[in-house]
Amino acid sequence: MLIDGKKVSMRIREEIKKEVVELKEKGINPCLSVVLVGSDMASRTYVNNKKKACAEVGMLSKEFLLPDEASEEELLELIDRLNKDKEVHGILVQLPLPKHIDEMKVIEAIDPKKDVDCFHPYNVGRLYTGSGIFAPCTPAGVMELIKETGTEIEGKECVVVGRSNIVGKPMAMLLLAANGTVTVTHSRTKDLKSVCKRADILIFAIGKAKFVNEEYVKPGAVVIDVGMNRDENNKLCGDVDFERVKDICGAITPVPGGVGPMTITTLLSNTLLAARMFG
Ligand code: GUN
Repeated sequence: MLIDGKKVSMRIREEIKKEVVELKEKGINPCLSVVLVGSDMASRTYVNNKKKACAEVGMLSKEFLLPDEASEEELLELIDRLNKDKEVHGILVQLPLPKHIDEMKVIEAIDPKKDVDCFHPYNVGRLYTGSGIFAPCTPAGVMELIKETGTEIEGKECVVVGRSNIVGKPMAMLLLAANGTVTVTHSRTKDLKSVCKRADILIFAIGKAKFVNEEYVKPGAVVIDVGMNRDENNKLCGDVDFERVKDICGAITPVPGGVGPMTITTLLSNTLLAARMFG
């Protein structure tokens, strides 16, 4: 089974669109601010995709582009201004930031009520206690895709490969909240293949093109590929060697068209939620 992230994403975005109309009727105009520091091309593309997605569901977005050499102070001042702006419901600072800026300091400066990325320690803490308001964008998108396969998570062996703050760690928390038996693995894990081979549900967020082959996958397992890499021909590809895995797994996400569209969909949901709760 091919898990169509575009289709699931479109379905959810249709719902969001309706809810945006309803909120507007109540006088609240949901608005996301996107901040980009520097000229990294990939980040530029991600930010443009976020803007486009907002427009498609009728949501307002404001873009703030700072040059590569912008100071930490300038960025913190902008965040302070956006925190105070009653017309702004969500603030997203595109990561990674240039090296001279302290990423954690910037994340902690965002009002937790506007932290639609769910990166602020307050929201991370709430996620870990199972009382979160916002959902972490990519992991929450993955949960929707697992749901789409009809797979019950409760009691299942779930293996997450990668331990980043953006994907791996919050992913583990969501799977745990859904009563999965969760293992988090990483680059120092011994015998990764046999750990992965135990899993009913596999989440790969490694960042290595076509790293995963059939030796990592139990027949029938659900395979979610969070990777966004370029292959030897500069073509977009995931962490999973799709051709070698597709016939033995039970379900798999393609790259592109799997997890990618879902991340932005959660971002829209979070912005809507922020507008509804705090707008
Ligand atoms: N860079 C890569 N993924 C993300 C994300 O989900 N949010 C932000 N702010 N930056 C990112």
